[in-house]
Amino acid sequence: MTKTCRIAPSILSADFARLGDEVKNVIAAGADWIHFDVMDNHYVPNLTFGPMICQALKPHAKTEAGVAVPIDVHLMVQPVDALAAAFADAGADYISFHPDASGHVHRSIQAIKSKGCKAGLVFNPAEPLDVLDWVIDDIDLILIMSVNPGFGGQSFIDSALRKIEAVRERIDACAKDIRLEVDGGIKVDNIRRVADAGADTFVAGSAIFGQSDYQSVVRAMRQALLS
Ligand code: DX5
Ligand code: ZN
Repeated sequence: MTKTCRIAPSILSADFARLGDEVKNVIAAGADWIHFDVMDNHYVPNLTFGPMICQALKPHAKTEAGVAVPIDVHLMVQPVDALAAAFADAGADYISFHPDASGHVHRSIQAIKSKGCKAGLVFNPAEPLDVLDWVIDDIDLILIMSVNPGFGGQSFIDSALRKIEAVRERIDACAKDIRLEVDGGIKVDNIRRVADAGADTFVAGSAIFGQSDYQSVVRAMRQALLS
């Protein structure tokens, strides 16, 4: 592992009635990024939040010392480009999309980067990695789904470990600085296995927001990564 690990709590499992406070509290608990799951009831069978909510949360995405905490937008939407641009305008730092949701993957990546955001590609559990042959040099993040997208609280799918290993080989073979993020079913008791497969960035929703003490979960995850 050459990179500092990042823990990215997914606010999908937060209390939507108190989202600003939830973002502040999870940052105080040690979150490195805020993971923002955008679902459109079309690409996935669920509906969450749009760019206006991202814009409203942006001022809360900072530490007590005032250091900005990146907003990591995971688009589960089809089509991609117009919403990606809207999220860039709303303050997103990373914007990732599913290649099978875009008719023109290269164009969508460029649309995100032209807005000054970092671009990521997301791969569902049964989705092949072939598109990386052509665009890996253009992206900043690869997100491997270890559940089927659409809902929090699902169980980790073990075949994601093999896929993470395959992606790690591809990243190491290219000169670029690319984060390898994993999303779905991440808990204190499996995060180390996922890191050992090659991931450096970990989304966790229900594992963190399902407990009353966020800090103890984030600390336990970091401890598992260090041990
Ligand atoms: C699922 C989302 C995830 C979700 C993960 O489609 O992309 O980010 O919040 O939730 P947990 O950590 O509960 O599996
Ligand atoms: Zn997600």
